[in-house]
Order: sequence, then structure tokens, then C-alpha cells
Amino acid sequence: MRTEDLIHFCPPGRLIIGAGSRSQLPALVARLGYRKGVLVTDPFFVKSTPWVDEYVRSASALGIETIVFDGGEADPTTTLCDNATQAVRIALGGNAPDHVIALGGGSNIDLAKALCITLPSGRPVRDFVGGLTAADRPIPLIALPTTAGTGSEATPGAILVDPSNATKVAVMDNSLRPQIALIDPEFTYTCPPRVTADAGIDALTHAIESYLTLDSVQYDRGGHPDPGYSGRSSLTMLFAREAISLCARYLKRCYDNGADVEARTGMCYASVYAALSYGSAGLNAVHGIAYAVAGMTHRSHGTTNAVVLPYVVDALAAHRPTETTEIAQIFGICGESPEHAVRELTEFLRELVAYLGIPTTLKDLGIAKASLDSLTRDALAVTRLAKSFPVCDVEDAYGRIVRNAYHGRLGKAPTSNK
Ligand SMILES: NC(=O)c1ccc[n+]([C@@H]2O[C@H](COP(=O)([O-])OP(=O)(O)OC[C@H]3O[C@@H](n4cnc5c(N)ncnc54)[C@H](O)[C@@H]3O)[C@@H](O)[C@H]2O)c1
Repeated sequence: MRTEDLIHFCPPGRLIIGAGSRSQLPALVARLGYRKGVLVTDPFFVKSTPWVDEYVRSASALGIETIVFDGGEADPTTTLCDNATQAVRIALGGNAPDHVIALGGGSNIDLAKALCITLPSGRPVRDFVGGLTAADRPIPLIALPTTAGTGSEATPGAILVDPSNATKVAVMDNSLRPQIALIDPEFTYTCPPRVTADAGIDALTHAIESYLTLDSVQYDRGGHPDPGYSGRSSLTMLFAREAISLCARYLKRCYDNGADVEARTGMCYASVYAALSYGSAGLNAVHGIAYAVAGMTHRSHGTTNAVVLPYVVDALAAHRPTETTEIAQIFGICGESPEHAVRELTEFLRELVAYLGIPTTLKDLGIAKASLDSLTRDALAVTRLAKSFPVCDVEDAYGRIVRNAYHGRLGKAPTSNK
């Protein structure tokens, strides 16, 4: 408990976690009075799993009509969202749905979130980038994540790729948080190792980044009466700590053996606990730099986060000595002294990234040295993240992190801005 905290905590409306819990959904949807829904997913789930059919049939038996949109793609673009908006509006024949269901990883959930705000009017999604007005009333969303993960089932944002400038844009508002986040670990059993690794390191990144982010008392809410993100507090840190512990226990196990049910379940909890932390505390440099890296390389969200994570933790070691030492201890790293432990932690994180088959430097990810300045500028341009990095000179810190991440420099290695 930290008496100085200023808490503005925003979880999803209902959080349901349990193996097989998907079978409860039709009755819950009926109980909430919903009658006409759109289920947003991608071809994998329609062709290779029974889940879409099972839900549509059980819901129909209870008088709930569901239209399936299975055109979801990894890293959805604003163009995909606009095309989906038109296609679904035509399929609905002018009748607005009273709920939207997302089945899939963060990509399908984000597309569904965006559709919740575009379907009522048919307006392009770019109209909503930068914030919703009080008059914008999104359709209620039910999120069924199939990766562990992004935590999008508990956050206020939909992240879309803007093809006109190759960056990711966010549609963000607390009203976009799912009314129901239903986490059925069985959904994740079919994840191939690459998806398991990318999603798992994303969950760990969310937990660590939000554990180390700016305090709520220092956070600039810009006068917003209902901020999506508002800095870390003792409440968000509780969830972050638990998520880090779960990742320490289960991330590698899950990657090594996708049939390890305990590890799969542990990572589902890790993912949602991390989201309950970052979904209110917010994130900073890892995601800020990763968005810029993704714009240049088009690599996955988990990969672009992972490559930067050890270098950001390294940069924060002096500013967050207690917390970084705690994280080292959670991973069983004691070291001769707290400084040694944190140094070992950053090396451990880099080894974990390599173990998961992800490059450990920006150079190995294919970024050219000549691009480092523009990469830093692009990262700093994501001001909602840059403003939460808990150091005095954020511009200088981002520049150093980008260069260290390019060269693979950690700890005592030179951290010059060259
Ligand atoms: N809104 C947020 O708060 C938030 C947070 C983090 C990331 N994101 C976004 O999430 C996206 C990444 O999501 P992701 O890592 O969950 O991957 P994803 O949703 O992009 O899915 C990647 C691939 O894995 C497949 N897949 C997903 N679940 C599967 C399963 N159970 N079995 C077999 N295949 C499966 C998908 O069909 C897809 O082909 C990025 O676009 C990122 O920007 C959003």
C-alpha cells in the first residue's frame, strides 16, 4: 500500500477464467439480453476448430443470432477494418448488432474492438484515432483470447497498422474495454511454438514495463476525466508481480511443450494479470520503440518488444533499483550484490529472448545503423508512451537504448549516444 497513489483502475466488465469456461458463454449472453451478434475471427478458427460452430449453434438455441466475420488477419490494418465495417453492415442488412464477440489473438480482438465503434455509423476507423467523444457509443464487446498474450481482452485500446505511413495507430477509450473477458486456457492449446513465444514474451514485457513505469502520482492525465492509463500504483504492481512470477515459472515450459496444460493455464493467468497491470498503469519505452521497429521491419508485436526489453530494463536499473532487484529475485537471480543481480537479470532476459528464437539486437533484426536516428524519432513521437518513461531526459534515454539495442550492449558496456 502506497498512500500517495492516485488510482483510476479500469478492469473489463466481467472476467471469467477457467478451462472449458467457453461453454458458459451462450447462457451468459442470453442472460444479458443480447439477441443479435457479430463474431469476429479468422479462417483458422472456422476451419480448424469446432469453437465457432459450437458457439453459434448453442447461442442460436437460446434465440441469439450470430453473424460470423472470419476475415481477421494478423496485425490488422485500418483498411481491413474499414472493409470489414462495410461487409458486416451489408450482412446485417441495416440492423445494428447488440454485441460483438472476438475469438482469436490480439489481432482479432483489436479488429473486433475497432468494429464496435465503426459498425454503428459506418465511418472510417481513422475518425476515431486520437480519442472518442462522449457521443460515441461502442457496441459491447465480448473477448475470447486464444493466445496468452496480449491482454487486449482487458485494455482500452485497439492497435491497427496504418498502411499510409506504416505505423501503428491506436483507437483508445475505456468504453472499448470488453464487457466480458472470457479466458478459456483450452483455446490456447493449439498455439504453435512461434505464436506461444511471441505472445508469452509480450505478457512478460507488459508485466515488467508496467511494474517499472511512471508512478500514478506523477502521471499527466492531461485533464482527462476518464483516462485509460494513469501510471502505476500498488494495485497495478500487485498484478504485475504475480504475472512476472507466473512467466518465470511457465513461459519456457509452455514454449518447450505446448501440451503442458499446467504451463498453458499458468501463462493465461500471467497474460491477464499483466493486462490488469498495464491496462491501467500504461507502458513506456519498450512498446514505444517496438512500434517504431515494427514499422520498419514488419516483424510481430512480441518479437519487436522482446528485442528491446533487456536494454530498457538495463536503462532503468539506476532509476528503479528496488523493483529491478525484485524482478531478478523472482527469476531466482540473487547475485553478489543488488547491482550484480540486476546486471545478471538483463543478461538473463536477453538469453530468454534468444531461447524463444527471437533476435537479440536491432542489427540482427535487420535494422540499418543509418536508420537509428529516425527510429528514435518515430519512437519518441508516440508521446503517450514516451511521457511515461520514468527518467528525466527521455529523448537522450531513448537514443541510448536504441543504440545499445543495435550493438547488443548491456550493463557496464559503453552507453554513449553514438
Ligand atoms: N490492444 C491491445 O491492448 C494490444 C496489446 C498487445 C498487442 N496487441 C496487438 O495484438 C497483435 C498480436 O496478437 P497475438 O500475439 O495474440 O497474435 P495474433 O492475434 O496476431 O495471431 C498470430 C497468428 O496466430 C494464430 N493463432 C492465434 N491463436 C491461435 C491458436 N489458439 N491456435 C492456433 N493459431 C492461433 C492466428 O490465427 C494468427 O495467424 C498485434 O497486432 C498487436 O498490436 C494489442
